[in-house]
Amino acid sequence: MSMKKMNTLMAKLDHGWITSILKQSRITAVASKAHLSTIPPEPVIPSKKPFKVDLDGGKRYSWCSCGYSKKQPFCDGAHKTKAQGLSPVRFVPEKDSTVWLCGCKYTNNRPYCDGTHKQDFIISAPLHEEN
Ligand code: FES
Repeated sequence: MSMKKMNTLMAKLDHGWITSILKQSRITAVASKAHLSTIPPEPVIPSKKPFKVDLDGGKRYSWCSCGYSKKQPFCDGAHKTKAQGLSPVRFVPEKDSTVWLCGCKYTNNRPYCDGTHKQDFIISAPLHEEN
């Protein structure tokens, strides 16, 4: 093989190697982006105590699950711009009742408080306050 052919072959190999590396990087970047976009954001904590509210039986309510609503503990649509991937919890109480709705957004019994706000990870977390 002549030196010229050898150089041409090396250039093609280099090109192929670089192309391969670039493709892998692109695949990794796309995969990372896809991975990020499928993980819902964490809610912020608007209150470290529950909200005591009087509910009307048969009425539909939307409990804020993202923490960004300014109408706590209810949804004001803020999740659409500030926490895409999170949705409010819609519920209809059977009868008129007074309940404690979660304010920390980390209850395991949404929308009701289950005492999770007393755990260290909530106590030590920052409180979300609107600017
Ligand atoms: S306020 Fe969230 S569990 Fe009590």
